[in-house]
Amino acid sequence: MKTSLKMQLLKAKKEGYALAAFNFDNLEMMKAIIEAAEEENSPVVLMVTESAAKYMGLDYVFALTLTAVNNAKVPIVLHWDHGFDISLIKKAIDHGFSSVMLDSSLKPFDENIKETLEVVNYAKNKGVEVESEIGHVGGKEDDRNSKANGYTNVNQAIEFNNLTKIDALAIAIGTSHGLFKGEVKLQFDLLKEIAAKIKTPLVLHGSSQVPLKDLQQAIKLGITKINIGTDLKIACSNALRQWFNENPNDFDARKYGRFAIEAIKKEAIKKIRAFGSSNKV
Ligand code: 13P
Repeated sequence: MKTSLKMQLLKAKKEGYALAAFNFDNLEMMKAIIEAAEEENSPVVLMVTESAAKYMGLDYVFALTLTAVNNAKVPIVLHWDHGFDISLIKKAIDHGFSSVMLDSSLKPFDENIKETLEVVNYAKNKGVEVESEIGHVGGKEDDRNSKANGYTNVNQAIEFNNLTKIDALAIAIGTSHGLFKGEVKLQFDLLKEIAAKIKTPLVLHGSSQVPLKDLQQAIKLGITKINIGTDLKIACSNALRQWFNENPNDFDARKYGRFAIEAIKKEAIKKIRAFGSSNKV
């Protein structure tokens, strides 16, 4: 069933866990995320990025995700992730997404505020919630490869949060998107300070390949939504490589597809358990 981002994040904050927010790029990944949530009796965030939606086809994504979410036995937040194009964000809002993220984090502060307000005003009228980013989480996020990485400035974050009244705030505390992050050193003191001064639920992007104990520490300090993209892609492609090594003559998409779903699901369940959201429906 479809659920509200804000309601789930406030519940997570109160009860001391975080919601796993998973990106998907194809049917197998989407099914694995929903099955993982159902098996763990956990709420999750099902996310599609703008570029993934373009790859799959916007209309297919709208139809598929609404069916998946409506049929799911556990609460699912349907979330438009890393929206750069406001007209597409508005389409996602019109099509019944629970929440949308605008990523104008590389733009000047005033412009980020202005664009966030435009999305908030549009979304609020339709009962849809908004996440926006202050500071910049760089790295490889689908089609964008950003070398910039800027920690969140606490005063800017407070002002941004007060002016925009968003429902979830993505902050930059040392992670980056994608596979090659080097050594990740999360700035826990910065997180602590932001969490002490901002009551809006906080979101961590770029969380694949980050040690689970660091993510658990971030949850203790106030992160309530943890975005995972790359780790599910790795699980999917490693499974397919293994399948074709072991079954070089196979061509049945349903067999290797199912094998991939099981591997992705295992990875998703690992995260759900580590973030403490099992049995939190
Ligand atoms: P990773 O691919 O590094 O997990 O980042 C995903 C993300 O933050 C999506 O918003």
